[in-house]
Amino acid sequence: MSAENIENVVGRPKRIGVLTSGGDAPGMNAALRAVVRSGIYRGFEVYGIRKGYEGLLSGDMYEMNLRSVSDIMNRGGTILQTARCPEFMTQEGVLRGYRMAQVFKLDAIVIIGGDGSFRGARDLAKVGMNVIGIPATIDNDISSTDYTIGFDTALNTVKDAIDKIKDTAYSHERCSVVEVMGRGAGYIALSCAIADGAEACILPEQHFDINTDIIKPIIGCRNRGKHHYIVIIAEGVGGTIEIAKQIEEITGISTNATILGYQQRGGSPTVKDRVAASLMAMKATEVLAAGERNKIIAEKNEKYIAIDIDEALNMTKSLDPDMIEASKMLSL
Ligand code: ADP
Ligand code: F6P
Repeated sequence: MSAENIENVVGRPKRIGVLTSGGDAPGMNAALRAVVRSGIYRGFEVYGIRKGYEGLLSGDMYEMNLRSVSDIMNRGGTILQTARCPEFMTQEGVLRGYRMAQVFKLDAIVIIGGDGSFRGARDLAKVGMNVIGIPATIDNDISSTDYTIGFDTALNTVKDAIDKIKDTAYSHERCSVVEVMGRGAGYIALSCAIADGAEACILPEQHFDINTDIIKPIIGCRNRGKHHYIVIIAEGVGGTIEIAKQIEEITGISTNATILGYQQRGGSPTVKDRVAASLMAMKATEVLAAGERNKIIAEKNEKYIAIDIDEALNMTKSLDPDMIEASKMLSL
């Protein structure tokens, strides 16, 4: 829809706010850039809200223009910054957020973030604000979408780190236990287990037994002539260092543990993340220009669609059983 056509749309929002919330993810800046540029193209005024819901509550926002988002596409993190805002988890906090949005005459707010941020958005929708969510988290754990911005960059960061760890494991004939992010979800762990040929991968979604799921595959590999091993543990499983100790005690194989930590959230976004962020953000402003309310943008079968926020938050998704099978079969 052109900027001229937008003038004819009844009940359209004229001024939109945009914020990044929850854990930062590579590609948030690319999404922000595309919200600002496509939003202005479609005839909106765009206000950047700093530090997520915290900035909404304190009215920490400013009008952005086409140049406000220059040279940010390649940067990790988020130039608007992000925060966790406990006050927004209360009804009073949400109402205060709504009132502040009225002060700045925001007709809609675009929320770039994860599942928690979308729950906050739903609460804001309930008190009368029009909200549109763009899924961004390295965990890829938002049920309504096949893909979340930041996932591919994090996978490549983990792949690079494990490739390096593997060089040492091979040279010294060691076992390396690597903890990757994913408090409640094993998407990063599972993809990287396939990409790096890990001997074992332990996921928060599944009960595990150290003898069956770690020691047995390692001994099996050793008996077939392999002398270096990678075990990937998703953060949500917990006890990574203890697991490494037990592997060494039971097998006698020199074993170390590496917790990859926050490097997985940083870095310049990959092409996939830049493109996904740009197209999801364009879809968000398209939906707003069409006068739609309270949607989450999602990738489904390689297309970008908008799903009603209540429906989106009630969806479930689970790890692909074919990927679980591949991670086990191919490491033999
Ligand atoms: P993410 O969006 O990455 O999942 P969080 O779960 O930390 O990150 O959520 C980010 C922010 O969203 C929280 O600090 C809070 O302000 C808001 N939020 C999270 N869960 C809720 C909820 N159930 N109701 C209202 N607001 C929420
Ligand atoms: O961004 C997602 C995530 O990295 C989770 O995997 C992790 O548990 C969480 O964020 C940790 O974030 P923080 O330390 O900022 O609370």
